[in-house]
Amino acid sequence: MEQRTLGADVRVGAVGLGCAGMSGAYGQRADEQGIATLRSALDAGITFIDTADHYGMGHNETLVGQALRPADRDRAVVSVKFGALFGVDGSVRGVNGRPDAIPTFLGYSLQRLGTDYVDIYRPARLDPAVPIEETVGALAEMVQKGYVRGIGLSEVGAETIRRAHAVHPITDVQVEYSLFSRGAEDEILPTCRELGIGVTAYGVLAQGMLTGTWRQPVGDARHRGHLPRFAAGNIETNLALVERLREIAASRGTTVAQLAIAWVLSRGRAHRDVVALVGASRPHRITDAVDAAGLRLTEDDLDAIEQAVPRGAVAGERYAPALLSLLDSERTGGRR
Ligand SMILES: NC(=O)c1ccc[n+]([C@@H]2O[C@H](COP(=O)([O-])OP(=O)(O)OC[C@H]3O[C@@H](n4cnc5c(N)ncnc54)[C@H](OP(=O)(O)O)[C@@H]3O)[C@@H](O)[C@H]2O)c1
Repeated sequence: MEQRTLGADVRVGAVGLGCAGMSGAYGQRADEQGIATLRSALDAGITFIDTADHYGMGHNETLVGQALRPADRDRAVVSVKFGALFGVDGSVRGVNGRPDAIPTFLGYSLQRLGTDYVDIYRPARLDPAVPIEETVGALAEMVQKGYVRGIGLSEVGAETIRRAHAVHPITDVQVEYSLFSRGAEDEILPTCRELGIGVTAYGVLAQGMLTGTWRQPVGDARHRGHLPRFAAGNIETNLALVERLREIAASRGTTVAQLAIAWVLSRGRAHRDVVALVGASRPHRITDAVDAAGLRLTEDDLDAIEQAVPRGAVAGERYAPALLSLLDSERTGGRR
């Protein structure tokens, strides 16, 4: 697989694997299937593995730990998000980026992952009550002690990226970036490129919308109604956009999902600094993702895609209000 470089020297496959879906992000947990997906990914050259301590409240890290064979550990780049707070009932309770909390978060994650270091450790969201310099300063101590190899950020705007990078080099910024979510193009991507920071784009399939799985807002799509873009009133517009992509995909002999992944990869091909994180919990998705990494979109393809799904054409915000309010990236960067 084509390689990308995050920060100064973290080499990873151009496609990464997002593991949230294995821990019930879209319904059922899938332990055996999840482990099989992780193993297929590693075998296929996908080396960036993304998890978080809050995915399934620790379940996801345990699963990743079970899937990682000792022989895989050095090859895999395990990315872990910390600090998102939830109630026992799953309610959103804010963020904790306090320096004194970090060793505890990290210690628990290492235990669940069954490893003695995390490759890239990142606050899931900016804690508005804690200067980013303090959070990154505490993470830098974890790097010095060998528990963490690189520091990442997630859903932060350009100013936060600069302030964080001034304290310790940042390896990558994780941000939602897809044909449906292009706000990062305004400030976040250019800032990362200027500073030599990688971008791990998530939501490249718009939580499954950009796959062509659904032609009508029925069945599984209806179970995602809590996501604004799947909500009645928005989903009809968004599925119509997907139908336009389906035509382009058919003319290229590929699928909507592969087109969407290849589009994100085309954004970072020249600089080799954008990884497309694909969320998957079934092994056969890996073949699709790997094939997408080999797909080269021509200028004509990119023009046709742009016309089919112009920036801002999507209906609905990317998160519900309680979660959207936690995004530093939305406050300081462009929207959609
Ligand atoms: N930093 C952050 O704030 C943040 C936020 C959200 C997510 N993330 C990370 O990004 C990852 C992916 O994000 P995401 O789950 O929001 O969205 P996504 O990758 O846009 O979509 C995932 C969905 O697409 C489906 N899918 C994958 N490949 C497919 C294919 N070839 N054909 C049809 N369907 C396919 C998956 O199905 P199956 O599950 O059935 O395989 C899943 O339902 C997460 O797992 C997580 O690691 C980070």
